[in-house]
Amino acid sequence: MTQQTHPISWLIGSSLTAAALALGVIGISLSLSATGYADDSHELQQTITPNPEYTAECGSCHMAYPPTLLPADKWRAITANLADHFGDNASLAPQVSASIEAYLVQQAAQHGKVMKHNVPLPAGAGPQRITEQAFFIRKHDEIPRHMVQDNPKVGSFSQCSTCHNLAEKGIFDEDTVNIPGVGRWND
Ligand code: HEC
Ligand code: HEC
Repeated sequence: MTQQTHPISWLIGSSLTAAALALGVIGISLSLSATGYADDSHELQQTITPNPEYTAECGSCHMAYPPTLLPADKWRAITANLADHFGDNASLAPQVSASIEAYLVQQAAQHGKVMKHNVPLPAGAGPQRITEQAFFIRKHDEIPRHMVQDNPKVGSFSQCSTCHNLAEKGIFDEDTVNIPGVGRWND
C-alpha cells in the first residue's frame, strides 16, 4: 500500500506545485501591467544632477527632495514663500534661494507630470506638497498609520528617505523600501 500511495501523492503534489507556480507567474505579469510600475519607476529614475548648495540648504529638516518630484511652477511657489514654509521658517538669502530655484526648475518634472501615466497637475493652483499628489496617495494608500505617523522612527510621509533607501538618487522602486521597525515591504 505505502509503496503505491507514495508515488501517487508525489504526483499530485508536484502538479499542484506546478499549477501554483504558473498562477504566480501570471499574477506577477498582471500586476506589472495593471499598475504600470515598470514605466512609472523608469520615469522617476531620470538622471538627477546633484547640487551641493541645494542639499545643504534644503536637506537639513527633510531629505533634499529629488527635483523630479514636482513640476517647475510648484517649486517656484515653494521658493517664493520660504518664510512661511509648511509652518516653518526656511528663509534664505535672496541670491541663494534664486540659485536653488533655478536648479529645481531646470530639473523639475516635465509637462506637469511626475510619473509617466499621471494626469498632469493643473498649472498655478493645486497641491504644492509631493505627498498630496494623486500618484503619491495611490502608491501609499495601503501603508497603515502605525508604520508612518505613529512610528517614531518615521513620523511623516515627508521623510521619504527613512523608508526608500535610494531616495537621494531618485529611485523609489518597491524593492528598495525598508520601513524602520517594520522591514522590507511585500504586498
Ligand atoms: C527649517 C526646516 C526646513 C528647511 C530648512 C526646509 N524645509 Fe521643506 N519642509 C519643512 C517642514 C516642517 C515640512 C513639512 C513636513 C511634514 O509635514 O512632515 C516641509 C515640507 C517640504 C515639502 C513638501 C513635502 C511633502 O510633504 O510633500 C517640500 C517640497 C519642501 N519642504 C521643500 C523644501 C525646499 C526646496 C527647501 C529649501 C529651499 C526646504 N524645503 C527647506 C521644513 C524645512
Ligand atoms: C513609511 C515609509 C514610506 C515613506 C516615508 C515614503 N514611502 Fe514611498 N513607498 C513606500 C512603500 C511601502 C511603497 C510601495 C507601496 C506598494 O507598492 O504598495 C512606496 C512606493 C513609492 C513609489 C512607487 C514606486 C514604484 O516603483 O511604483 C514612489 C514613487 C514613492 N513611494 C515615492 C515616495 C516619496 C517621494 C516619498 C517622500 C515624499 C515617499 N515615497 C515616502 C513607503 C514609504
